[in-house]
Amino acid sequence: MATESKKDWILMATARSPTNIAVVKYWGKRDEALILPINDSISVTLDPSHLCTTTTVAVSPNFDRDRMWLNGKEISLSGGRYQRCLREIRSRAGDVEDEKRGICIGKEDWGKLHVHIASYNNFPTAAGLASSAAGFACLVYSLAKLMNVREEQGKLSAIARQGSGSACRSLFGGFVKWEMGKVLKCTKDSAGSDSIAVQLADEQHWNDLVIIIAVVSSRQKETSSTTGMRESVETSPLLHYRSTEVVPKRILQMEEAIRTRDFPSFARLTCADSNQFHAVCLDTSPPIFYMNNTSHRQVPHSFIVTNWFFRIISFMEKWNRFEGTPQVAYTFDAGPNAVLIAPNRKVASLLLQRLLFYFPPSTDTELKSFVLGDQSIVKDAGIATKEDIDALPTPPEVKDNNASAQKFPGDVSYFICTRPGKGPVLFTDEDQALLHPSTGLPK
Ligand code: DP6
Repeated sequence: MATESKKDWILMATARSPTNIAVVKYWGKRDEALILPINDSISVTLDPSHLCTTTTVAVSPNFDRDRMWLNGKEISLSGGRYQRCLREIRSRAGDVEDEKRGICIGKEDWGKLHVHIASYNNFPTAAGLASSAAGFACLVYSLAKLMNVREEQGKLSAIARQGSGSACRSLFGGFVKWEMGKVLKCTKDSAGSDSIAVQLADEQHWNDLVIIIAVVSSRQKETSSTTGMRESVETSPLLHYRSTEVVPKRILQMEEAIRTRDFPSFARLTCADSNQFHAVCLDTSPPIFYMNNTSHRQVPHSFIVTNWFFRIISFMEKWNRFEGTPQVAYTFDAGPNAVLIAPNRKVASLLLQRLLFYFPPSTDTELKSFVLGDQSIVKDAGIATKEDIDALPTPPEVKDNNASAQKFPGDVSYFICTRPGKGPVLFTDEDQALLHPSTGLPK
């Protein structure tokens, strides 16, 4: 091994990767091991200053095995998905030289060196906020930097895809398409190399958009996406109709809506796709209920129409109908958290007012821990205190219907105000590292 004689060196890289929200959903695999999807999907990358994974990877001749810590807790790397990502990255590793410290690693050395990985999410893990997407994107990106992998971002996305499908889209900022690839089923090594993410437009292209996430539960979701989509592929006739008849056309329409910044079309397509995804979940046998109740209000499934999922959809649909044109797009992933997208700051402040009107904080929740992220939206909405929330007027679409404006305090744990954001970045500042530079263990 062409490294310095002393064995006490540690080389590290730290990166931050965003999460993403699909506006045309990926649901269903045609190859489970390689994670090849049955349809293309499109997502918006979320601003990593509000939602992101930070990962530090370190290598040292002193490490005796690969190890990983997630949010401070050691986890096993023995799973196939981690192993595949590590193997794919190692096989593409290049020579690395740190002249100042006299470290020199030849590309053939990487197979013999072990890594330590520490990863931290600034949002709840596995609560339906695509933590695996940000996590695997960050793992692959930071390892690629550490090991001097000179592949273009699309190739890296195909590696991240093998960790978690949606992760491939987090390798880019802005608006991203995951192309399913042409090879339908193949056992060769090269299989799936055309199933990659491509950037449709960067985060500046449509930077008026404001995204508000309503987090209703930070519990781990009951059915993982992986299991859920396997069951849908095996049992749902609607999924097969969706992937062959609906999504191909919808992808073209969504690309056009994004290209021309046509919010009404973008919103209609986003809502329709989210609703169809959840219809597929209900069409699965046994049915998957991602749109469960919040932890605060447990009602039997037979009363499901009264639950959070239908409430928020009906509030948003009512507002859109009242205005005659979509004001807001809503979408839900494999969990009950709602992602709401407004065309600009003005509409976003009206949206936030409505959300706070219907779903105020419980009495023991402080405002500053209830609305997180971009505080300028909160300011625009004229909300400085909890009394301002109590004083919010009933939305006109409810008033005009003569319906009673019901409120559901405590249904939402917190809101996050964010926007489209950029792709992964490497930190140069050692202080950002999650591993100790002298021990290679979590700080
Ligand atoms: C509903 O990417 O988490 O969020 O590939 O099995 O790891 P695996 O699944 P995952 O599924 C995401 C599903 C979704 C829709 C989407 O993000 O496109």
